[in-house]
Parts: sequence; C-alpha cells; structure tokens
Amino acid sequence: MGILPSLQIALSPLAILAVLTLAAAAADSSIFDLVYKGCANQQLTAGASADDVASTLLSQSSASKFFNTSSPDQSIYGLFQCRGDLSSSDCAACVAKAVPMWSSLCGAALAARVQLVGCYALYEVAGFPQVSGNQMLYKKCGSGSGGGEGFEEQRDTALSSLQSGVAAGRGFYATTYQSVYAMAQCEGDLSSSACGQCVEEAVQKSQVECGGANSGQVYLDKCYASYNYYPNGVPTGGGGGGSGGADGGGGKQTERTVAIVVGGAAAVGFLVICLLFARSLLKKKD
Ligand SMILES: *[C@@H]1O[C@H](CO)[C@@H](O)[C@H](O)[C@H]1NC(C)=O
Repeated sequence: MGILPSLQIALSPLAILAVLTLAAAAADSSIFDLVYKGCANQQLTAGASADDVASTLLSQSSASKFFNTSSPDQSIYGLFQCRGDLSSSDCAACVAKAVPMWSSLCGAALAARVQLVGCYALYEVAGFPQVSGNQMLYKKCGSGSGGGEGFEEQRDTALSSLQSGVAAGRGFYATTYQSVYAMAQCEGDLSSSACGQCVEEAVQKSQVECGGANSGQVYLDKCYASYNYYPNGVPTGGGGGGSGGADGGGGKQTERTVAIVVGGAAAVGFLVICLLFARSLLKKKD
C-alpha cells in the first residue's frame, strides 16, 4: 500500500491540470478550438512555400471576413473565411491562430486547410483544388438525443430557413427557432445561388447524417451548416460553436485525426477519474 500515496503526490498536479483542461474544453467552445485539419499527402516542391500567401492573409484579416490571394508567382492560392458573426478583431485573432497551424499541423504539405470554430484558412497549389464543390470534409453529430419528434420538427424548421437566409444575408445566416439554434455560411466568393445550393446540401446531410442527435455540424468544401438544440432555451448570442461528441464516418483522413484527439482526451479523463477515485479511497482511510 506504501507506494500509492507517493504515486498520488507525484501525479496530483498533473491530475489537477488535466481536470482544468477538461473543464475548459467542456465549457462553451472557443472560436480558436480546432474543428478539423486537412493536409495533402504530397509535399510542396523544394523552394515553394505558402509564406507569401500567409502574410497577405494575416495582413487582411482585420479588414474583412473573407479574402483570397495568390503568391507573387501565382503558384500558391490561399484564403481565409471568418464566421459571419465575429467582430473584426476576433476575426483577425482567429486567422492569426489558424494560418500558423498550416505548417504546425501539416508540415510543408502541398495543400492544407485548418478549420477552427471561428474561421478557416487554406492554401493549395494554384489551379489544383484538393477537393471539389460540395464535397463533405467533416461532420460532427452530438452524442445526445434531441428527444424525439418535437425536436426534429423544430430542428427542420430552423434548418429550412437557412438556405434562403444565406442567399439574402450575403453568405452568412443564423437563426433561432424555439429551442434550436441553426447557422450556415458560404465561402465569400460564392454567388448567392451557388451558396443556396451548397447550404441546401449541407442541411440535407446534417439531417441524414445526424438523424435525431442534439447537435450537428456539416462542413462541405464551400459552405457549412450546423444546429444545436438547447432544451432550456437558446443562450443569447446563439452559442455559436458546436457541442457533443465526435462521430466517425464520412471517409476522410481529417476525421480520423480529430477522433484520435478526442480519444486521447477521453483517455486522460478516464485516468483523472481513476486518480480522483484512488485519492478519495486514501482520504477515507486517513
Ligand atoms: C478570388 O476568388 C474569385 C472568385 O472565385 C476569383 O475570381 C479571383 O481570381 C480570386 N482571387 C485571387 C487573387 O486568386
């Protein structure tokens, strides 16, 4: 039994740190939280880099919510898009976080895309888009149930207004219907008809993929749609980010990465619970 107390002392600062981290993650998600990353498998050729594109995007990120650019020699194309309800300072802060993640998460990949809760940024070799049109890049469905028919009706009503809403709302629209908050956004260079089509597809996918789940987020190449169910009322400001557990499927490398991260967090959480349990047993003995 002698080994346990010393183990407890050695590990408890770590345990407390882990608890704090988990508590922070459980609170309303920050606009800086990573949603997914996509990295091309191939590397950029020697000498090529996304640095020029990165610095142009960073310099434009407090002036607009969307910006696209090419490197001086036109070899690399890149863009950022901030969520429509962010202030310009939040947009700039979000882009400042996302752009350096290209290299920290993807190395010198031929193309990289980083989606945070509040913004996304991508680059690719000009003229060679890595994905096309309305392809689904990532989805996440809540692990809880919305609680049946009443919920699904509310959810579908909220979602059905997104398509017309984005077209009228210059590419971003958020709405609350009873207990459901729904949001959609298109990439800034999409025409309003292309945007409406993209969002229609994202909405259908979120209904099909997430079924009766209490939240859903579907990210296509050019747009995304999400909904969140708040049985005790939608918080003012809408809550913005997603909640609920990750859900596999959809067939992309990016999702596996996210699943591993979530799995890692769950493992840490389990370890913490074990430690706390061991500690409470020891306390009782004292
Ligand atoms: C930005 O996007 C628009 C629309 O897709 C395109 O016409 C334009 O050439 C892009 N700008 C750059 C610098 O690539």
